[in-house]
Amino acid sequence: MAFELKNVVPWGRNLDEYKSMFNLTDAELNKKIISFGDGPASFNYSMFKFNKSVISIDPIYGFSVDELKRKIKETKDIVINQTRNNAENFVWTKIKNIQELETIRLSAMNLFLQDFESGKREGRYINHEMPDKTNFADSTFDLGLSSHFLILYAQLGLDFHLSAMTEMLRVAKEIRIFPILDLDAHKPALLAHLVEHFGKNFKVEIQRVDYEFQKNGNEMLRIKRK
Ligand SMILES: C[S@@+](CC[C@H](N)C(=O)[O-])C[C@H]1O[C@@H](n2cnc3c(N)ncnc32)[C@H](O)[C@@H]1O
Repeated sequence: MAFELKNVVPWGRNLDEYKSMFNLTDAELNKKIISFGDGPASFNYSMFKFNKSVISIDPIYGFSVDELKRKIKETKDIVINQTRNNAENFVWTKIKNIQELETIRLSAMNLFLQDFESGKREGRYINHEMPDKTNFADSTFDLGLSSHFLILYAQLGLDFHLSAMTEMLRVAKEIRIFPILDLDAHKPALLAHLVEHFGKNFKVEIQRVDYEFQKNGNEMLRIKRK
């Protein structure tokens, strides 16, 4: 089935947020990174400006910049209203209020939109839908990231997660997933299955991070080769 833009929530975070969600050190920022479900985040753009290497993977990169602008505009009102109506489920310390949330997210997504066409030509934004196999050779990347895609969208199911993460661990020596809560801010049942499954052949850790916007959403899943 074709990936349809109407089913997607394009909503993007920035480099500082990626650094704290994934505990990224300066040395790690110099590694070869691939980011799955990277959407309209400004992570790729900002890393590129600092001469760092990031490839972003997402099926929304098959759409034109105008289609993405339109969809981001529609999504913004829905997400901002939902967050306002559920404000008690979020931690308002780093991001102080709804206005600030809107400003931070829109400025990240505007940087993405400005960068998208040139980044796509340069091969930094790749239109690809997980869990399909990517074209990369084994171990091409040091680090594979998933921010607000896997586990958050637990409804994608266990088989989807197993296939997607197996592919991520084929192309990257280590993967990190944040958050490990679903959209209702609960740890989904599939998390324990993933820890058990990948624990057989990989080193699996749940690590505390210095980022918490969803209440109790301050942990990432880290899986690396033994
Ligand atoms: C909430 S956004 C998060 C964007 C970005 N990672 C961030 O944290 O700012 C979720 C992203 O997952 C992407 N996504 C959904 N299904 C996907 C799939 N099957 N393969 C890859 N990405 C997918 C969506 O297109 C969307 O851009």
